[in-house]
Amino acid sequence: MKRKYLSILLVLVLVVTLAACSNSGDNNDATPPAETTTNGAEGKDTVEVGIAIYRFDDNFMTLYREELEKYFAELSAETGVTYNLDIQDGKQDQATQTEQINNFITQGKDVMILNLVDITAANAIIDLAKNADIPVVFINREPETIDMKLWPGKTTYVGADATQSGTFQGEMIADTPNQGDFNGDGKISYIMLQGDPQNVDAQQRTDFSIKALVDAGLTPDPLSEPYQANWDSAKGQEFTANALAQFGMDLEVVFSNNDGMAMGAIQSIEAAGRKVNEDIYLVGVDAIPEAVQALADGTLTGTVLNDHYNQSHTAADVAVELVNGKDVENYYWIDYVRVVDQSDAELKDAEPRTETVEEAEARYAERAK
Ligand code: GAL
Repeated sequence: MKRKYLSILLVLVLVVTLAACSNSGDNNDATPPAETTTNGAEGKDTVEVGIAIYRFDDNFMTLYREELEKYFAELSAETGVTYNLDIQDGKQDQATQTEQINNFITQGKDVMILNLVDITAANAIIDLAKNADIPVVFINREPETIDMKLWPGKTTYVGADATQSGTFQGEMIADTPNQGDFNGDGKISYIMLQGDPQNVDAQQRTDFSIKALVDAGLTPDPLSEPYQANWDSAKGQEFTANALAQFGMDLEVVFSNNDGMAMGAIQSIEAAGRKVNEDIYLVGVDAIPEAVQALADGTLTGTVLNDHYNQSHTAADVAVELVNGKDVENYYWIDYVRVVDQSDAELKDAEPRTETVEEAEARYAERAK
């Protein structure tokens, strides 16, 4: 009798255990699966992140890339989730980069963070990503709004509004004691060192720096067409040397779309025996460490912080949200900061501003008027 009860008990235990096992694998059970307690990727030990950078040997994108790595490492340490970063150098060639992105897709990355070489490729890349169900965070080079509508919620842009940086550059010149007019002829005679002309940052900094002068009631006088120095320091040096030789003391202001080119310009200005802030002004964008040092040395009039710190942190945070299956905003904007003093370039946490694609379109239409 005792034996019989024991076997019934054993059978019961077995049935209950089997039932529990079969329920744990599907969602028919009324009991929800246990929630994860981390702030990182939910229910994952490792997350595979594919990161494509347009070119490794770019000052600003190097700062950005290093901060991104650092921040993901911090997230790993805090949450126990391992973020495996696969960071590829596009070498400024879209075909190379498209291949790298295709590899990310074949490897089944959980999310991609993309700094495209050629932003017009965004459309095709979003299609590929959507088919593979791999969400995308675009950084640094803003896609067209039409492309941002292809897969809303799962594609996003994290960046800074380049018009703001151009405006700050113009305002910094308008704020100088002689408002950029050393020779008192009532005009601001300038040259423009332009970044990659396909890049919206280059186009808008070129336009909005000059617009800010006009808005301040001043008269800009371009001594030449913008020089295509492609973000490159050596080219910035060469074009500035040529302009100084050609225009001499007529040249009053050098606008540089980034600090890299401005660092080249400093060398030519010094070689020509000219003195920044005494007989010529020079402004850049990015606030790379060399430029912040140049400000302290008095060889640069001003720069604008292109906040790689908050941009990279936001890109990573948004990527984690996407990995967790959430829908994200269309845009996350980090403000530029005007830098005329070393302390202005200090990196501190800032909240991104979000925007829908419709809001961005309305804003762009307004701006184009
Ligand atoms: C800009 C930056 C440049 C260059 C460029 C690359 O935002 O100011 O220095 O890095 O991005 O797309």
